[in-house]
Amino acid sequence: LASDHVRIVEVGPRDGLQNEKKSIPMDTKMELIRRLAKTGVTTIEAGSFVPAKWVPQMASTAEICEQLLTAPPQSQSTIAYNYLVPNIKGLESLVKIMDETGVPADSPGSESKSATTTEVSLFAAATESFSKANTNCTIAESLERIKPIVALAKTKNIRVRGYVSVALGCPYEGPEVSPSKVADITATLLEMGADEVSVADTTGMGTAPRTMELLQALKAAGIANTDLALHFHDTYGQALVNTIVGLEHGVRIFDSSVGGLGGCPYSKGATGNVSTEDLVHTIHSLGMHTGVSLEEMSRIGSWISGELGRVNDSRAGKATLGR
Ligand code: HMG
Ligand code: MG
Repeated sequence: LASDHVRIVEVGPRDGLQNEKKSIPMDTKMELIRRLAKTGVTTIEAGSFVPAKWVPQMASTAEICEQLLTAPPQSQSTIAYNYLVPNIKGLESLVKIMDETGVPADSPGSESKSATTTEVSLFAAATESFSKANTNCTIAESLERIKPIVALAKTKNIRVRGYVSVALGCPYEGPEVSPSKVADITATLLEMGADEVSVADTTGMGTAPRTMELLQALKAAGIANTDLALHFHDTYGQALVNTIVGLEHGVRIFDSSVGGLGGCPYSKGATGNVSTEDLVHTIHSLGMHTGVSLEEMSRIGSWISGELGRVNDSRAGKATLGR
């Protein structure tokens, strides 16, 4: 990546929708992904293979995945579709669909079909309480769970992303999460074979000084910026401030959600991710590039907010459309 290029991971269809109480029609989910694929964004989190009793909204992931493999949305460049897998069972469900459709993890595309890649994300947490709430196991157990997931993913050529949740604050243990603990877990995930780790401020409690401290701890642990992504929820309105800290430190991969959709079911009061429109606007304002169209993204943010009957949470999105 050129130093002025920032890769945006659009998490709206997964992180953004997973907490919506009302069941969202398949057509709306697919339409969201289809529209996002045309904005220039190159990674889209499309769903998660989790038990429906834990996250009912994601029960349609198998169907979405099948459609994305067999009839991917039109896009200019290769799009990586990413699925969250909490355990080996989740990955096995994905692999079964890949085997049945015969579409490999790296699908080159053709005249009628856009090129795609299939990726997974697995997740660990930086505090025991959140680990228990989100994955029903200890941190150590969650790391054990991850080993067979990575092993199977590698045999299928599936790129693996790791998440470390509650890196800058925990709903149960407060804001003072140990940066060295986050760095240890991040390093472990990379050693286990994750291709990239997204360090997540699940609760939005992160502040600029603590983000800086965390990034320094990650650096001290020998973690390269190229292996790192940052995932900011905007609960306290600090996501863009912390993004700037991350950019100054040299991180070039950031997660965001169109329209600022979302929240985490196990993090009470947490609001959505930083909106993709705000993130794109900020990065472009610094003279850096994302390849993402702010106008297109803003139209999608407005449309999906309307579909879900919620307020559009993106200031830059609303301002762009009002210009
Ligand atoms: P558990 O209940 O301990 O699992 O949950 P289990 O292994 O005991 O299985 C219980 C039942 O679920 C069994 O079925 C299994 O077959 C089934 P039963 O015998 O009762 O009929 N099952 C599955 N079904 C479908 N897909 C699967 C699967 N696994 C088991 N993959 C588990 C443990 C990890 C599964 C659960 O805790 C879980 O799904 N957790 C994930 C919750 C979640 O999705 N959280 C939100 C995503 S993470 C997030 O938002 C944070 C992030 O954005 C970063 C940040 O901001 O921090 C990424
Ligand atoms: Mg999240």
